[in-house]
Amino acid sequence: MLIKIPKGWEIPEREVTLEDVYLNRRKFLTRATAAAAAGIGGLILPGAATLRGAREEYQPLNLPPLTAPRNPEYKVDRPLSSERAATGYNNYYEFTEAKDQVWKVAEPFKPRPWEIEFKGHVEKPRKIDVDELIKQMSLEERLYRHRCVERWVVIVPWVGFPMKKLVEWAKPTSQARYVRMVSFFRPAQAEGQRKGTWYPWPYYEGLTMAEATNELAFMVVGMYGKILPNQNGAPIRVHLPWKYGYKSIKAITKFEFVEKQPPTFWHDVVPAEYDFQANINPNKPHPRWSQATERIVEIGETVPTRLYNGYGKYVAQLYEP
Ligand code: MTE
Repeated sequence: MLIKIPKGWEIPEREVTLEDVYLNRRKFLTRATAAAAAGIGGLILPGAATLRGAREEYQPLNLPPLTAPRNPEYKVDRPLSSERAATGYNNYYEFTEAKDQVWKVAEPFKPRPWEIEFKGHVEKPRKIDVDELIKQMSLEERLYRHRCVERWVVIVPWVGFPMKKLVEWAKPTSQARYVRMVSFFRPAQAEGQRKGTWYPWPYYEGLTMAEATNELAFMVVGMYGKILPNQNGAPIRVHLPWKYGYKSIKAITKFEFVEKQPPTFWHDVVPAEYDFQANINPNKPHPRWSQATERIVEIGETVPTRLYNGYGKYVAQLYEP
């Protein structure tokens, strides 16, 4: 039953995906139940969806407006992606592996009310409703390049607030060296959590305190002047433009301040392919494909990848020996 996958950059663009059928099958041998194994027969490579963008039938929803002044510091050298492209072509495995269908499968999800928990090495552990938290923050709009490890790029006007403000609000103690972030677990509302039972749900990620408080790290609660749609991580996600997209965890329910480097979802699923740091680097190929170039979703143009996605002036010092 082994499927032979060509090595690295021989893989056509449309087949580049976070995990592949081969790895999934191997995992089945060790982890999956018989019921789940029956499901894999029908698995289609998620990357088989076109890289050009959203499905034809997709139109962005008229969500409530959420506007904020644009921060002129963060400039992009290309036109913004259309709202349709950035909200109609997503990675969100809790819902589906088909990128051009996430919008549809995620539509019934209820992202409010939504409680966020702060725990671990903090002065006082606490929980807060997402809208209460947002009210306490001053919102701004930032244009950021968003680059997936699979090599696709969108350029997005996010609305949110610096993660540094969130960390200050949480009041971590001096023992905190990392922040661990955890997404939701609601199999009844998220088809991918019901079907993809071999994944270690809920999705989890982590950052060093220096990364979390870097000025680029951004808590996102809206995009294109509206509240965040479900498919992009409603009601709150992070965006880290110098790192591959898998670090930018969506629909966060928990921030835990810890001493040791926390485990991360994709590293645990495929350890050899996804590391903790995940900094965008054209010179460090993924084991199955080159990272030297990237494709702009919708336009289809292929351009060279830049170290730290072009954000070196803000973050390179974090990684100097
Ligand atoms: N967060 C959760 N909870 N679940 C996911 O599957 N996918 C990650 C990241 N955050 C993911 C997630 C990956 S691989 C990418 S590329 C980005 O979300 C995609 O964000 P977008 O859909 O807003 O473009």
